Amino acid sequence: MKDNTFTIVGLSGKKLLKGSIPVFGAKNNVLKVMAAAALIEGESTFTNVPDIADVVAMGKLLEDLGGYVKRDEHTLRVNAKDITGTVLNSALAKSMRASIVLLGPLLARFGSVTFPHPGGDVIGERPIDLFISGFQKLGAEFSESGDSYTLKAPQGLSGGEIFFRIVSVTATETFMMAGTKANAPLTLKNCAMEPEVVALAEYLISCGAKIEGVGSSTLVIYPSVLTPPAAPFAIVPDRIEAATFLALGAIAGESITVTGVVPAHMDALLDALRSTGASVTVDGDTVTISAPEVIQPIKLRTHEYPGFPTDAQAPMMVVLTQAEGESTVVETIFNGRLNYTTELVGMGAKISVVNPHRATIKGKTPLKARDIDGPDIRAGLSFILAAAIADGTSHIGNAHLVDRGYEAIEKRLASVGLQITRS
Ligand code: EPU
Repeated sequence: MKDNTFTIVGLSGKKLLKGSIPVFGAKNNVLKVMAAAALIEGESTFTNVPDIADVVAMGKLLEDLGGYVKRDEHTLRVNAKDITGTVLNSALAKSMRASIVLLGPLLARFGSVTFPHPGGDVIGERPIDLFISGFQKLGAEFSESGDSYTLKAPQGLSGGEIFFRIVSVTATETFMMAGTKANAPLTLKNCAMEPEVVALAEYLISCGAKIEGVGSSTLVIYPSVLTPPAAPFAIVPDRIEAATFLALGAIAGESITVTGVVPAHMDALLDALRSTGASVTVDGDTVTISAPEVIQPIKLRTHEYPGFPTDAQAPMMVVLTQAEGESTVVETIFNGRLNYTTELVGMGAKISVVNPHRATIKGKTPLKARDIDGPDIRAGLSFILAAAIADGTSHIGNAHLVDRGYEAIEKRLASVGLQITRS
């Protein structure tokens, strides 16, 4: 693949990065509102849309179903009036986990949806049992043929109550969307409360949906007539992008400012960074960080929002390789999300993975440059961070995986002084 490798000249531990980095709209919000737009016979406009590969893929999925998708810089228009298809394009759906949320709008609007097992990051098991059992509870029939699944509910989805055995971002979002067109009110319990889930609810409300309990773990969704929103909907800033840049600042920043963020969405992250000794200043929609002289070790446990986000675990791991002493990371959400640490060990980090959910990190260890491939979006970024502080020049392959979630990453990192190019 062309232009698929980043070359990074490491700073050998020097804290020289300086300047500000804009944070764009969140991948995990834009993909969901694009899917939600499939509920509506008319046009929605989204602003602050990041230019990332997953948005292109979701756009193609909607177009393949008969929808209209048009992007102009950071603005995106979606019109699902002419959607008639109910079979998801298998290759596109398999390219990203977010395709699963289309089950909600398509089943609720057309009474049928056919889909493959969704793909996405290789971060452990990504089952879909909550979706199947949830829709069955709402009266849908499930069948399997070859490698595709079909859900059918020709009389529409009943309302009622679903208790999620496991807190799930995409399951909460999918059933929130489905509930807007069910035959009766739907109560969802033990919901995910991530800012991106709240933002999806706000978009649906701007289209006429009635949803109670937004931001809490119990949602009640009332059947409503949805119409195109009167005003453009702004995608919520990407707190995970911000976390990545701030982690870089904690290890290599003379002073790095991230702009265009919602600091209130990052309490757990800012607390963790401050606990390492980093100086963190919040001012309106900006956060500034400077690397401390000595990074303190910490105990970190990923958790559903408002806990520490699993998506920021890998960047934070790189920070902890530079802490003086022993840190612990407990990954509670995914069972394959510590696999990437092997590569950091290859760069000189002392990380022991005790079991698939727990790692101990002994620092501080200087890191040496390496040529490695990123296995997914977040781990790929953490390799870029590790390469940034390493001694020597690293090549990080699989840039296309980073492009799934980060717009023009090399340009933004170069703007604060990192020597990073793509070839
Ligand atoms: N789970 C089940 N059964 C299901 C669904 C989920 O057991 O039917 C389990 C998962 O295996 C996991 C837990 O529930 O152990 C929580 O996973 P969740 O469903 O919340 O994850 P997701 O919705 O598939 C979203 C983000 C992820 C992010 C997680 C957790 C999208 C498209 N993806 O995934 O983002 O890590 O929530 O916050 O919204 C990323 O952006 O790099 C990314 C992986």
